[in-house]
Amino acid sequence: MGPLGYTNLGYRLRARTFRPLPRMDGATAVVTGATSGLGRAAAHGFARLGARVVLVVRDAERGERVRAGLPDAGAHVVARADLSSLADAWALARSLDGPIEVLVHNAGVLPPAYTITPEGHELTLAVNVLAPFLLTALFHERTRRVVTVTSGGMYAKKLDVATLLSPDPERFSGTRAYAHTKRAEVVLTELWAARLDPARTVVHAMHPGWADTPGLAASLPGFHRIMKPVLRDPAAGADTVVWLGAAPEPLDTTGRLWLDRAPQRTHLLPGTRESASERTRLWDACAALAGAT
Ligand SMILES: NC(=O)c1ccc[n+]([C@@H]2O[C@H](COP(=O)([O-])OP(=O)(O)OC[C@H]3O[C@@H](n4cnc5c(N)ncnc54)[C@H](OP(=O)(O)O)[C@@H]3O)[C@@H](O)[C@H]2O)c1
Repeated sequence: MGPLGYTNLGYRLRARTFRPLPRMDGATAVVTGATSGLGRAAAHGFARLGARVVLVVRDAERGERVRAGLPDAGAHVVARADLSSLADAWALARSLDGPIEVLVHNAGVLPPAYTITPEGHELTLAVNVLAPFLLTALFHERTRRVVTVTSGGMYAKKLDVATLLSPDPERFSGTRAYAHTKRAEVVLTELWAARLDPARTVVHAMHPGWADTPGLAASLPGFHRIMKPVLRDPAAGADTVVWLGAAPEPLDTTGRLWLDRAPQRTHLLPGTRESASERTRLWDACAALAGAT
């Protein structure tokens, strides 16, 4: 179906065969970026299944407003963390206890300009790669499923760790940096899966398709305007996140990339496949920068 499959049409066609999801009563779902778009829709999806949702947000007031709109609002909690800060990610890990059924790395940014965080990292790298890496490292021993929301934009990118870590400020493109971090997310999903026992923790990435979210409208306004009639709603974009967190099938595999509940290839174009040494370089760099060896 190609890129048409990323639209609401692709979702509607595939959703005809989707089975209802099992209940998640008593389970905890931790969702980053739960104030908006796909994260908010995923929080609703998990709450509807009876899970207790931990909404990880950088603005506690907005988080409380989302929590108040969830089914059984009193069951859920808001946890504040600015995920451009590794210190905040460490503090988040210290503040949450108990087993986690699913940890969703959904928070993501496509910044308009080159930005360095107060901790000295390029912003896209910090939010999209380093914080999820650190949270996986800190939570995996008590987490059954880790799900990362990546993007089809990554198909155009080959991993180049030196550029990922230090993009040229003079030639910075938010779109390029974003796609590069999304490629890194997919590679890290495979690397975590190779390290973790799937009987205890499975690790998956998913592509939401093209969904009509505040993030898409702000970061790619031209694309959003032209594609608006065929964009998915956020619930459709987040459907595979909820499926990966709730359904039995994702526990049978690990390290896969998914779209609309189906496994996907991680490379579509010639020349995007990274070498084994580049993969090792990515792992070592993330472990060193996140302080999680
Ligand atoms: N929409 C699509 O078509 C599409 C396609 C491919 C991939 N994705 C991916 O889907 C994920 C969600 O995107 P979206 O479209 O739902 O965008 P969105 O509406 O902008 O939501 C992004 C979420 O991330 C949070 N966030 C951003 N920076 C943060 C930080 N420093 N610390 C903590 N949270 C932070 C935002 O919080 P605030 O509300 O405080 O800003 C917001 O809750 C992203 O990873 C994105 O790359 C989306």
